[in-house]
Amino acid sequence: MDTKKIRNFSIIAHIDHGKSTIADRLIEYTGTLSKREMENQVLDNMDLERERGITIKAQTVRIDYKGKDGEMYCLNLIDTPGHVDFTYEVSRSLAACEGALLIVDAAQGVEAQTLANVYMALEHDLEIIPVINKIDLPSADPDRVKQEIEDVIGLDASEAILASAKTGEGIEEILDAIVERIPAPSGEADKPLSALIFDSYFDSYKGAIAHIRIMDGVLKKGMGLKMMATGKVFDATEIGCFRPQTTELQEMGPGSVGYLAGSLKQVRDVRVGDTVTLAEGGVTEPLPGYRGVTPMVYCGLYPVDSADYDNLKDALEKLQLNDAALVFEPETSIALGFGYRCGFLGLLHMDVIQERLEREYNLKLITTAPSVIYHVFKTDGEMVTVDNPSDLPDPTTIDHIEEPFVKATVIVPKDFVGAVMEISQNKRGEFKSMDYLDVNRVMVIYHIPLSEIIYDYFDKLKSSTRGYASLDYELADYQPAKLVKLDILMNGEAVDALSTIVHVDNAASRGRSLAAKLKTIIPQQMFEIPIQAAIGNKIIARENVRALRKDVLAKCYGGDISRKRKLLEKQKEGKKRMKAVGRVEVPQEAFMAILNID
Ligand code: GTP
Repeated sequence: MDTKKIRNFSIIAHIDHGKSTIADRLIEYTGTLSKREMENQVLDNMDLERERGITIKAQTVRIDYKGKDGEMYCLNLIDTPGHVDFTYEVSRSLAACEGALLIVDAAQGVEAQTLANVYMALEHDLEIIPVINKIDLPSADPDRVKQEIEDVIGLDASEAILASAKTGEGIEEILDAIVERIPAPSGEADKPLSALIFDSYFDSYKGAIAHIRIMDGVLKKGMGLKMMATGKVFDATEIGCFRPQTTELQEMGPGSVGYLAGSLKQVRDVRVGDTVTLAEGGVTEPLPGYRGVTPMVYCGLYPVDSADYDNLKDALEKLQLNDAALVFEPETSIALGFGYRCGFLGLLHMDVIQERLEREYNLKLITTAPSVIYHVFKTDGEMVTVDNPSDLPDPTTIDHIEEPFVKATVIVPKDFVGAVMEISQNKRGEFKSMDYLDVNRVMVIYHIPLSEIIYDYFDKLKSSTRGYASLDYELADYQPAKLVKLDILMNGEAVDALSTIVHVDNAASRGRSLAAKLKTIIPQQMFEIPIQAAIGNKIIARENVRALRKDVLAKCYGGDISRKRKLLEKQKEGKKRMKAVGRVEVPQEAFMAILNID
């Protein structure tokens, strides 16, 4: 393939602005797949993705298109995950491109994630083609959106393409713009091979497969290769492109995008951002921007039925084959028994993994509240990282604790600015800046602890701005904070899985609210259950779950056996997600209660 005929591009957009639908139309229009072959939304192909309507795993597809000049072009669409958890993956995908379509919803305008992604694309010097989508909507206002693109992003929107992925309007124009406006890749064939890995997946026959973009040199089937970050040496047993199904090739030149398989057993060998070069005589410097995966959020996963412990381990191992960002290790909790401490890129990632474990592997799990990673500086000068509140060292040995902060960007209509500020302030946010995007919309930036974002920041934002707020955040730094461990005692016993780390100023109120909330969640049992919140030895709140007087069957006078069975079934149903902690039956919600108290 002649490098001059290649165009590598991504699509960047805020969630729901129509990225996947536009991609589908491009694929359909060029006949890459017939309509019948195209199951709805090819690019979002995981069930969960489809249900949630968001892209979790990026996909790549090669589209052949005859340009206005009559020449055939090879357009490689590199899809990017559409969620803040996957910012690093997005940055690697963009590094594989020369251009990007910027999709903006004609009714919604520029949103927080549009901005974050555009800035990243600009950092990579990509040619950006603004596309205003959904112009078929009655509420579409393309002129306002154009103005916003110019004012807020600083891009020339005079040549923005007006499109509707629904009606197909503007699709041809987009394809022509990709050919005409996005530069061809600039790699050189006679240099030693260097290829960027921008994604990976696991195939049960071929092993771990890398999605690659050749920067320089030529990749041939059978070549001896090396991963620069891990030093792993292997042979290219198969190379090819995505149409979108994998299609084998014998060689791939500079600028090409496709896949690479070679006796690589796990996705951990294929690290996103790593550079592939020749085993002998390759490049000496890796491509810039490589970063190892670092989980941001941890939680404990425990099987409700302890006999499922091994099944949980098998399931986690299988999921990890395809997800290098998932980490886990065995953990024991006094309250919950044997389980795993798992690390995730963020809350969505955590949610998706939990759901897959339950759905695909049929596991019933108790999940503990997510925790960020704290840096605990001890008086003896040692620094330990703590991702489980119950592991916090004895307070007398702690000099100080640092916690992760993020830069949070919120975009809202101006009437809601007060609400955003109030919520952010309550969440220990530090105000950074406020700018008007247009007469009506405002961008507010806060420096705020990640743990507060995890709690219920976004839910609160959404509810107090009638859903209008959009949020994006990125890890900023670690800062010292006065943090303490809040323990919960049930029936006089501390329940390790309910411990949390909170700011000292909020500790008393959080303790009270949590005890009160738990009182409503813990079902009444045959005996009274005191619930106490404590910091160190000091009890700061107490509630009682009163004893149950009658058992459920007492209602069934006489012997209506079917009614009795129904009641017992119902009770069993409710018990599914219960875990006996000492003598107390504790439902799943209790472990998440900390996330939604006021
Ligand atoms: P993520 O995968 O989360 O990034 O979302 P997305 O940007 O891929 O959005 P998607 O393509 O899933 O579209 C979101 C919704 O908008 C879907 O319900 C689409 O049917 C709808 N939609 C997309 N394009 C158009 C359009 O041109 N007109 C109208 N009316 N609706 C559209």
